[in-house]
Amino acid sequence: MASEDLSTIAKSLVARGKGILAADESFPTIEKRFATIGVESTEDNRRVYRKMLFTTTGFEEFISGVILFDETIRQTSDDSTPLVEELTRRGVIPGIKVDLGARPLAGAAGEKITEGLDGLRDRLAEYHRLGARFTKWRAVITIGAGIPSRRCIDANAEALARFAALSQEVGVVPIVEPEVLMDGDHTIQRCFEVTQETLGSVFERLAAHRVVLEDMLLKPNMVLAGKACPRQAGVDEVAEQTVKCFRRVVPAAVGGIVFLSGGQSNEKATAHLNAMNALAETHPWQLSFSYGRALQDPPLRTWAGKAANVRKAQEAFRHRARLNGAARFGRYSEKMEKEFAVV
Ligand code: 13P
Repeated sequence: MASEDLSTIAKSLVARGKGILAADESFPTIEKRFATIGVESTEDNRRVYRKMLFTTTGFEEFISGVILFDETIRQTSDDSTPLVEELTRRGVIPGIKVDLGARPLAGAAGEKITEGLDGLRDRLAEYHRLGARFTKWRAVITIGAGIPSRRCIDANAEALARFAALSQEVGVVPIVEPEVLMDGDHTIQRCFEVTQETLGSVFERLAAHRVVLEDMLLKPNMVLAGKACPRQAGVDEVAEQTVKCFRRVVPAAVGGIVFLSGGQSNEKATAHLNAMNALAETHPWQLSFSYGRALQDPPLRTWAGKAANVRKAQEAFRHRARLNGAARFGRYSEKMEKEFAVV
């Protein structure tokens, strides 16, 4: 696929007022999410739940693309329509998580390396045939006593860059996700330093592997204090520190920045994105969202595994998507939380 086509996909994914739904939970993760509502993680329950999200009336007004899991890209609706087609017929771009998860990094206690490069070229070609137009690879960086090590950061950055180069070769837009976790009691300053160092390494490796920056998206964490830190930063401080950090290390050529929610509350994830977009008339990049939990919590809880709740759950999903859409323009306010959308 020609390079312009990839940059068109990248631009469509960060179109104004829209963002990405991450619905690519692996088997263990979706099992954990379903356990919170007392639903067993069977293939059919996963299919029914994700179909519910993808067939929500009007969600395409706020959602440009959906990241799928390997199982989901092969599943169909009740009338045998592939779930991928449910998305494309609504103008939503299907994407796919292609990493195989984070495993312990050899000889580095508490640190992880993401696996999945072996055979990736062939898997990417198959996903492209199945309709995926973008891909995602997540690396995790943990902050703790004496970690992260430079070795862990660089090993993950190298894998991210190799994944991104292969994706572009096959003709799909890579979403490069280096996530500095918010677990721990570290300060916001420490998160700033680690995020800056991680992104610095990632962009150095992306350049080495000749990844076209216009044809990719970055999916980072926001700069936040650790969950257990006694001093939590306010919304404006998070927005300022995050944008300050990114201006130092993220080239302006990058197609867009789509934040992960990473365990923030739904409201905080929206408020932080909103505050960043309200900081300046324009930033060097589009600042958008690629949320999993912060978009799915309300529909998941409302659904609770019952067919009778589907419509209400879809309303809850569309409402959350609309609020994040407003945050793309810096137009979200807390009082919008109570304005429940009517289908
Ligand atoms: P969260 O928004 O729940 O962090 O999920 C985003 C994601 O895709 C993690 O890989």
